[in-house]
Amino acid sequence: MTSQALLTHLAADRARVDAYLARLFESRRQVPAPRLDAAMRHALLVGGKRLRPLLVYLAGRALGASDEALDPSAAAVELIHAYSLVHDDLPAMDNDDLRRGQPTVHRAFDEAMAILAGDALQTLAFEVLATSEHPRLPTLIQTLATAAGRDGMVGGQALDLDAVGGHPDVDALAIMHAHKTGALMRAAVRLGAVTAVVAEDPRVTALDRYAEALGLAFQVHDDILDVTGDTQTLGKASGADAAREKPTYPALLGLEGARRKATELVDEALSALAPLGEAGTSLAELARYMIERDH
Ligand code: IPE
Ligand code: IPE
Ligand code: MG
Ligand code: MG
Ligand code: MG
Repeated sequence: MTSQALLTHLAADRARVDAYLARLFESRRQVPAPRLDAAMRHALLVGGKRLRPLLVYLAGRALGASDEALDPSAAAVELIHAYSLVHDDLPAMDNDDLRRGQPTVHRAFDEAMAILAGDALQTLAFEVLATSEHPRLPTLIQTLATAAGRDGMVGGQALDLDAVGGHPDVDALAIMHAHKTGALMRAAVRLGAVTAVVAEDPRVTALDRYAEALGLAFQVHDDILDVTGDTQTLGKASGADAAREKPTYPALLGLEGARRKATELVDEALSALAPLGEAGTSLAELARYMIERDH
């Protein structure tokens, strides 16, 4: 299946999580804060591929979970992702002006509102999960919290900032990428698996290996696109990593080396899926898409 065909095939799932996310803004709020609401909606609802919710749905379904049971996790992981992008783009971090083809939140609003919108998106993620009903709710919440926080995405972002202008080796770069990006993708797959309430099962371990390889492949390809992509197609500025002296896979291994690495990682993700048999077909397609995509 081509990348475009896969996205079409998954359009119903993207529409599903989009509708769920949009509904979060429908209930009347106690605090009238229209600018905050507008900033949150801008960050969450305009554009985006929804890859992490797709991972929740595909992994959960592969183990037998229902779509209804997967909705809160799919929405929560996208809420965390949206918050991470708002803060990643801030002047104090990557200082980017364009995201998902739109002005970044601090550009469309202001810096203070971007910080607050990020904060509120993060807490909304946990509110969505905590108010859902599931026999393994504490595990779901803990999985997301650990992946988002100090030992996950936030820790990875700290490594990223400290690495600017430096020359980490390939192992250090893998650790940074595995945390700043991989942790949330791995959590998405785990949330799907936990929702399916499958006890000790080799398929759960297989999915975890799949997600680990896929998360790293995704960020290696993000680094490649920063070099080879154009701003219009990416919906964010190309060439930004080099301009900011970010250590990346292409900077360390060259473009061809980085492409080889991404392909190896996707092969690893695909072979990890073997225990799932036919049930892993869509996850395999999504893994291939991760390094074929042009944005
Ligand atoms: C971008 O993630 C941020 C990284 C972790 C590299 P995506 O490429 O999934 O961004 P959206 O959600 O589609 O905008
Ligand atoms: C972002 O990595 C990881 C996050 C936790 C948001 P990048 O800084 O490379 O993401 P882009 O390229 O701005 O989307
Ligand atoms: Mg960054
Ligand atoms: Mg960035
Ligand atoms: Mg990037």
